[in-house]
Amino acid sequence: MKIQSLSYLLVETTNLQEWVDYAKDVVGLMKNDSLSNEHNLYLRMDERSFRFHITTGDSQKYLAAGFSLSDKAAFDDAKSELDQANIDYEDLGDEIAKLRCVEECIGLNDPAGNRLELSYGSKNSSEPFLSTQDIKGFITKGLGFGHVVFAAPDLEPAHRFYIDILGFGDSDYMNFPMGPAPDAPEVKLNFMHCDNPRHHTVALYESPIPPSGLIHTMVEVNDIDEVGYGLDRAMQNNTHISSSLGRHSNDMMVSFYMQTPAGFDLEFGYDGWQVDWDNFEMQKSKIPSFWGHAFSPPEN
Ligand SMILES: [Fe+2]
Repeated sequence: MKIQSLSYLLVETTNLQEWVDYAKDVVGLMKNDSLSNEHNLYLRMDERSFRFHITTGDSQKYLAAGFSLSDKAAFDDAKSELDQANIDYEDLGDEIAKLRCVEECIGLNDPAGNRLELSYGSKNSSEPFLSTQDIKGFITKGLGFGHVVFAAPDLEPAHRFYIDILGFGDSDYMNFPMGPAPDAPEVKLNFMHCDNPRHHTVALYESPIPPSGLIHTMVEVNDIDEVGYGLDRAMQNNTHISSSLGRHSNDMMVSFYMQTPAGFDLEFGYDGWQVDWDNFEMQKSKIPSFWGHAFSPPEN
């Protein structure tokens, strides 16, 4: 199976206005007015009809991540591979495909229960992308939306699923102690890429699934100033800063992390490594960052 990229993120909220304000005032995403209504907020990052779909419901949480395949043939091949591996999936039908602005899509869970969707034929908007915050554009061309980091209480079965079933490749096995104590438990993360140069499109973090359903997602902008202005906007709007500015050691991303209204974090960065996979040696990182990235979870 050849998954091209992360395509979209689905999120549930009890308060759509929080997301309207967060997207506009902090992140700089563009609302798709023709798709949005009082219960649905479709947010754009580029030429695509949407990259975030926020829908009203009973909770504040991640619902699913959408991944794209190149065309119908690749999509049908993916379904055959799932059939052969006895992996359950659900054909989501024409109505959902229309809501996702794709030709066809299926839904499935990874072994940790993280919800995924696979689709092809994503539609573009007829309107040009214009950020609400003067961002020149998010870095998505040939790379997809960004990345997602899922929790997996049992890391290895989930890891095998992405590698053996979904066709991802290993980018980095990261292990580091959770604090300075000599007997501190180890933090374990596996980073994986799909069929584009982004260093990782999915990472798995060995931990229980958090109440928000997702550890974090990442969007990428063009330069350090756009990251800096983003940090200013987050602070001006009293958004919780979950991590200070830092540079990651594996994908080289310079970023900070902030809490979204759903409780999971959004990494906002630039300078992510675009890897030539033919000349790449899998990493085994012992530190998450060269500098910075001091994490501070919210107090409530
Ligand atoms: Fe990240």
